[in-house]
Amino acid sequence: MNFQFGVDYYPEHWPEERWETDVRLMAEMGLKVVRLAEFAWNKLEPAQGRFDFTWLDRALAVFDRHGLKAVLGTPSAAPPAWLIAAHPDILPVDSEGRTRGFGGRHHDCQSNPTYREHVARIVGAMAMHYGKDPRVVGWQTDNELGNSHEDTCHCRHCKTAFQIWLKEKYGDITDLNRAWGTVFWSQTYDSFTQVPTPALTLTAHSPSLLLDWKRFHSDLIVDFQQKEIDLLRAGTTCQFITHNFMGYFDLIDYFKLATPLDFVSHDQYPWGFWDVPPGKNPGLLASTLDLMAGLKGQAFWIMEQQAGPTGWQILARTPRPGQLALWAAQSIARGADTVVFFRWRSCTVGTEQYWHGILPHNGVPGRRYEELKALIAALAPVMPRFEGALSGAEVAIVHSYEQNWAFEIQPHHPELDYVKFAQEVHAAFFEKNVPADFVSDRADLGRYKLVVAPLVFLDLPGVSDHLKSYVKAGGHLILTVRTGVKDTANVCLAENALPGPYGELLGIEILDYDCLRGVTVPVTLGQISGQGRLWWDVVTLKGARILASGTGTDHTGEPAATAHTSGKGVAMYWATVPDQDLMAVLIDRALVDAGIESLGTSAPGVELARRRSAEGDFLFMLNHTSEARSQEPGQGWIALVGGTSLAPFGFSVFFKPVQEGKV
Ligand code: GLA
Ligand code: ZN
Repeated sequence: MNFQFGVDYYPEHWPEERWETDVRLMAEMGLKVVRLAEFAWNKLEPAQGRFDFTWLDRALAVFDRHGLKAVLGTPSAAPPAWLIAAHPDILPVDSEGRTRGFGGRHHDCQSNPTYREHVARIVGAMAMHYGKDPRVVGWQTDNELGNSHEDTCHCRHCKTAFQIWLKEKYGDITDLNRAWGTVFWSQTYDSFTQVPTPALTLTAHSPSLLLDWKRFHSDLIVDFQQKEIDLLRAGTTCQFITHNFMGYFDLIDYFKLATPLDFVSHDQYPWGFWDVPPGKNPGLLASTLDLMAGLKGQAFWIMEQQAGPTGWQILARTPRPGQLALWAAQSIARGADTVVFFRWRSCTVGTEQYWHGILPHNGVPGRRYEELKALIAALAPVMPRFEGALSGAEVAIVHSYEQNWAFEIQPHHPELDYVKFAQEVHAAFFEKNVPADFVSDRADLGRYKLVVAPLVFLDLPGVSDHLKSYVKAGGHLILTVRTGVKDTANVCLAENALPGPYGELLGIEILDYDCLRGVTVPVTLGQISGQGRLWWDVVTLKGARILASGTGTDHTGEPAATAHTSGKGVAMYWATVPDQDLMAVLIDRALVDAGIESLGTSAPGVELARRRSAEGDFLFMLNHTSEARSQEPGQGWIALVGGTSLAPFGFSVFFKPVQEGKV
């Protein structure tokens, strides 16, 4: 169910006499869907058990008259003052033991049974009232789950919930003691009730406790969402359920959060809180969108697409003319089937007065309205042709929340960052205009010719066998430093030398390593040179061949990258974190070996992205620069939107039908 374009609207912020004008302007602009009510708990239930849907009913009637459908947010992110006053126990407690007060939003603990009860009541009542309303096409659970909960919660409910979670996982406390190695520093527990949450201590907690805490916290939020989903599914017919994700946000295993949803939605703020231009670069934006597509391997919605200058207390720069439209086009180029702009009109009250909407504060349509209206006129007619289609990538990058958590706990090198590494790998493909998907570590890899799995640190159940069979069957796999180091409890593996279960596959052994603090290691690969950064594994070859090696003072002649033929495929190893130059050539080689082609060469700052449907390929050419660019799509492409001349921040869309005899 798609609507191409929509907007986030807060009827409760504006006089009712204004609604008609707003919705008429929306319809004239080509908007077809609106998201409503995700923070309106107090307006919907002004006192416990006293529901008031009349205002929302009247708003829906206005939208209906103008042909816009609605998505309703469950308002659990904004528990009202009356609820907190009656049950202050709902307030979350941070790791320093401080209760965080009412104000802002999500001032709640997601384990708290009283809060959950009240959430169930409001969600149940909304589902009952709107579950069969044809004007409502779908639901958004909560709002950006996990946002604001980074350092919470350590209340008594969370502590008990964590202990129960551990009991379910380990069964007996002696098994937990064994798995975590609590013999260290006399941390042996007699019972689950002695296990703390990782609240403030004098020295660092056990890495095993910290990893399980992160898993627990993620599961807690997934469970919190599931309760809302259950209520919505029970009370609704034919309405979809989605949630607005936050790109690289890392508190929740997003693969798990996405599982019960009909599709993923994402909030895309290219400049957001970034007060230093240019905010996030186009490659990083692209990788964020690719991750969102990867969560379910499915096209998605943007539930909040930046629509103006952003910031709360401090503002980012104002997007240049054309840039808001370009960013929305980029979201579509990378898998969004519907783009909902945040927000309709810049708010005059509250925390987000400067997070601007399509309309300025005075409500008179201006530059942003005209720019986005033109975008909709250009793209809405062609979007149904590639609905549901993704890039058809032959490259996959494995993404794992558990691996990321393990590196957050022990980064090794202060600059070694799991997500950043993944983004650098993605950037290497992006620079070459090669589509690359993000996939989970258990995803079906059959359709990919090349898979990069950075930092497979923890030996999680089934993953090494999965990757091995991929290579045996003919896949090309790149593994990196810090692979096969620990077990699932975050305890070092000691049965084999590094890289543990991957030694045979890679044809190498690692008996020594070097954390590259304050140095880099020059590396050569034929005529090309680059730098090894952050980490260096001293690799002994056990059947692998050298792709690149270290030069300079330390690590001269030692392998920096290796390749090993295994079954029908090839397993490569990066024994250091390659800098941009080195990564570019290593990726180039791997692409040639795996027989993968790029979408073409593009002018500087021009992004190429593809959506491959049964009808054919749709090619987006996106100019992220403030200068005009000329870009040829190559042979056989038909222009659908724009052409080969790209205005500053301009874009075009080309189409190539499926060729006879080719699938
Ligand atoms: C997030 C939230 C919105 C709003 C915007 C702008 O994306 O979902 O409610 O707060 O940020 O700050
Ligand atoms: Zn709590």
